[in-house]
Amino acid sequence: MCGIVGILGRGPVVGQLVASLKRLEYRGYDSAGLATLEGLHIKLRRAEGKLRNLEERLRYCPPEGHAGIGHTRWATHGKPTESNAHPHATENVAVVHNGIIENFRELRAELERDGANFRSETDTEVVAHLVESYLKNGYSPQDAVQASLPRLRGAFALAFLFKGHDDLLIGTRKGSPLAIGHGNGEVYLGSDAIALAPLTDTITYLEDGDWAVLTRAICVIYGADGSVVQRETSKPGVSSLLVDKENYRHFMAKEIHEQPTVACKTLAHYLDRSGERVALPLTLPFNFSSIQRISITACGTANYAGHIAKYWFERLARLPVEIDVASEFRYREAPLRRGDLAIVISQSGETADTLAALRYAKSQGLHTISVVNVSTSTIARESESVLPTLAGPEIGVASTKAFICQLMVLAVLAVAAGKERGKLLEIHESNLVRELIEVPRLIAAALLIEPQIEKLAGDIADSRDVLYLGRGTSAPLALEGALKLKEISYIHSEGYAAGELKHGPIALIDEAVPVVMIAPYDELFEKTVSNMQEVAARGGKIVLITDAKGALEATLDTLMTIVLPEMVANFAPMVYAIPLQLLAYHAALVRGADVDQPRNLAKSVTVE
Ligand code: G6P
Repeated sequence: MCGIVGILGRGPVVGQLVASLKRLEYRGYDSAGLATLEGLHIKLRRAEGKLRNLEERLRYCPPEGHAGIGHTRWATHGKPTESNAHPHATENVAVVHNGIIENFRELRAELERDGANFRSETDTEVVAHLVESYLKNGYSPQDAVQASLPRLRGAFALAFLFKGHDDLLIGTRKGSPLAIGHGNGEVYLGSDAIALAPLTDTITYLEDGDWAVLTRAICVIYGADGSVVQRETSKPGVSSLLVDKENYRHFMAKEIHEQPTVACKTLAHYLDRSGERVALPLTLPFNFSSIQRISITACGTANYAGHIAKYWFERLARLPVEIDVASEFRYREAPLRRGDLAIVISQSGETADTLAALRYAKSQGLHTISVVNVSTSTIARESESVLPTLAGPEIGVASTKAFICQLMVLAVLAVAAGKERGKLLEIHESNLVRELIEVPRLIAAALLIEPQIEKLAGDIADSRDVLYLGRGTSAPLALEGALKLKEISYIHSEGYAAGELKHGPIALIDEAVPVVMIAPYDELFEKTVSNMQEVAARGGKIVLITDAKGALEATLDTLMTIVLPEMVANFAPMVYAIPLQLLAYHAALVRGADVDQPRNLAKSVTVE
């Protein structure tokens, strides 16, 4: 992962570099660093841990250079120490890197044989030494980079700064994203447009294999074969103002509470409310009647959104769905039928495995739809059709509002598919649309149970394990609930389809294990109650999440019964997700964990 930035400024760039790195911290926060040109010399400033440690270090003697590069790291090769922090520099060049250099061992051995002195355990440092070896042989910076690139295997975005060259940055990408920003007498490189948003709104995205030579006046982009290429410049319109905690303690809290608004906004984009019809904002280049199977791929929370959507596509459109985690899909060489549909789901639109899955599906001749939150992302740019989730920037590492908006878009798409395939009549469509329109209000009502959840969080915060169980669409939601809890509170938690309880997880249950039962009062409710009986018989502490009818019917002792507003069950996951998010958030608070930046994680995973 990692975020990279580079600036050729008109004045000292350190403030701009740090501001951009702050906006890239979602890509990793194990260490941060920057290199600037002071006089003609490269000066490094690096610190272990979050960006604030680097800021502290810069406070007393900020560098004054007008050219610099910066980095925020998610550790892959080498511990998150200061010596492994980027930039990595030799005498004449400094480099920041996002990605993995797969052949770094052989390159390092070769460079060490030639006398290079390595100071870190990273794969990145080989890039600096490799370029340095060419510079020492009299190559210009541009020629040295051009000679080095074909020797690097793996995925990378790189930005280089050279000793003695105050008006030069070189950037390149292969696999990992990199954008050029154009300012007034200034030029920038950044992992994404959001990083550069306060500096410029004029962006050129590099394509795979491109490398760019930038001065304040001229940007020249070369393709992998060394010929000059033209890449489109656009104004993606990323507001610099949206990334703010407002009055909340954490981004996650703010994002949880934004959900009624963003769900409504997303829905408005996809519905004709007055006509009670689904109205996709674009014409898809295929008809759902010609699709025999949908293949959905995604990672993490987005993957669980896909699992829930599988129920909707199969039930509402009678369309079979295969769903995979992207990291497996791309390697299992799934046989796909040309002309079928692949849907990839991604908040960031940059997840490396999801991107690779998209490319595989395209190579097999499938239609591709991406459901993405960042409309300027690589996944959005490379897919045939883009269905945006209008959640706004999501900063908390644990995905909340993006998940709800992904579900919203997928629900609408499933209804559209059902209609086009003749499985839903107009009357069904308008009923379903009415149900969807209700969801933002129901989410707002569900948020009112926060004080109760706060108390529950105190009761479960010391647990060693927590189990989440559900049936139907509540089964994948149980997986999502468990993921939320483990990723931010570090309590071990597992999600299971309730019917699987007796095939293993029941062995874990004793008086110390809270079991969260997600049980809307639907046609599966009675069966879920049976599973609750099995938990109760073994002394497990039941947390029942249901509605008023369910609470009345389930006559069991519970640690707590959380009563959500009554609703038609079809789209219940969008409402039942709320207590799960709140529980994870408050449990993490009780345990004093870093809610927005949990250990070892990053928001956007751009390595395989
Ligand atoms: C990381 C994040 C998760 C996210 C997953 C997929 O693991 O921590 O919150 O669900 O990546 O990310 P994407 O941007 O593709 O949705």
